[in-house]
Formats: sequence, C-alpha cells, structure tokens
Amino acid sequence: MDIFDVITSRRSIKNFTDRSISNEAIQQLLQIAVQAPNHRLTEPWRFYVLGPEGRGHYGAALGARKAKKIEDPAAADAVLQKVAETHRDLPAMLAVSMTVDENPEIREEDYASTFMAIQNLCLAACAMGLGTHVKSGAVMDDPSARAAVGVGENERIVATISLGEPADIPAPKHRHEASDFTKWVP
Ligand SMILES: Cc1cc2nc3c(=O)[nH]c(=O)nc-3n(C[C@H](O)[C@H](O)[C@H](O)COP(=O)(O)O)c2cc1C
Repeated sequence: MDIFDVITSRRSIKNFTDRSISNEAIQQLLQIAVQAPNHRLTEPWRFYVLGPEGRGHYGAALGARKAKKIEDPAAADAVLQKVAETHRDLPAMLAVSMTVDENPEIREEDYASTFMAIQNLCLAACAMGLGTHVKSGAVMDDPSARAAVGVGENERIVATISLGEPADIPAPKHRHEASDFTKWVP
C-alpha cells in the first residue's frame, strides 16, 4: 500500500481478533511514532504499553465513570466489570502522554507533536495490517486512570490506543471534500 492508500484505508477499529501483538511489532510502531515533526525537539511523548492488568485497571477507571450515571447498583457494577473486561481482553493497548511544559506555547506545540506521533503509529499499524482505535476523554485525568497507567507527575495522558488485528473493518465515515474548507489566499 502506498501512503495515500494507507491514509484513506485507516479506520478506527472496534473489534479485534484474538491474535496477540508481539512486543517487537509494538517497538517498531513506537520507533515510527517518534519520527514525528517536533518543534525544538522537545520529544514530549511518553508511551505506556499496558499489560492485561494495566488495561483492566484503566478499563475499571473508565467503567466506574460510566457506572456513576446508572442508578441500579447491580447494573452499575455490571457496566464497570464489562468495561474492565473489554479493556483487559484487548490484544494490546497503549497510553500516550506528553510532558507538560510551563510555557503555554511549547505546551501547545508539544500536544500537536504528540498527536502527530500517534498518527504515525496508527498509519504504520494500518500498513502492517493492524488496526488502531485512538480514544481520549475526561477519564484520562481521572486519578484511577492515571494510577492504572503509572503516568509521571508532570505528564498529561492525551490518548489511549487500542491495537490489534481487525476482526472487521467499519465502513468509512463521510467526510466533506477538502475544497469545502479551503480558501486559496492570493
Ligand atoms: C483525539 C481523538 C479522540 C477520540 N476519542 C474517541 C473516544 O473517546 N471514543 C471513540 O469511540 N472514538 C474516539 N476517537 C475516534 C473517532 O471517533 C474516529 O476517528 C471517528 O469516528 C472517525 O472514524 P475513523 O477514524 O474510522 O475515520 C477519537 C479520535 C481522536 C482523533
């Protein structure tokens, strides 16, 4: 696949097969991630490759947040357990954090670079026949989720990435033409 095909065929994958993902494949993907453009070469990205226990704890943190919205205690606990299990059962999962610089300009650039690294990883995974699902959300700042990852004090989790062999590939979601959003400025 050339780069255009990889970019257009990448989808967020929700269902994975049971095939395990080797540490070598993950290392290869991380090595591609860190090739991202990065102003001042701050190298703000930090990667946490979560094992089943870490994934389960992260899922439990997310599940607990979902469970809080459910009145019936048994139903709430079932949701918590289900989300924890779904995460534990993922073939692989990473949490990506960034160092938080005190300078807001650097902080913003670092956030951008970290997401470029994430996209590198997602595209490379796609080229290898693997699937990814990037997720963010308020859970990333939850103390239980931070503890599950073991993230450093001066770091902010910016996304998690589920990784595995796709069990099915969703249809592409509609996107407008780029020309709808483009002005050619003389
Ligand atoms: C910063 C970011 C955060 C995302 N967070 C979530 C999320 O919390 N849950 C989710 O199901 N998908 C999440 N996604 C995936 C998007 O929903 C997905 O990219 C979008 O639906 C388009 O689908 P596609 O990636 O298959 O093209 C996130 C994507 C990005 C870039």
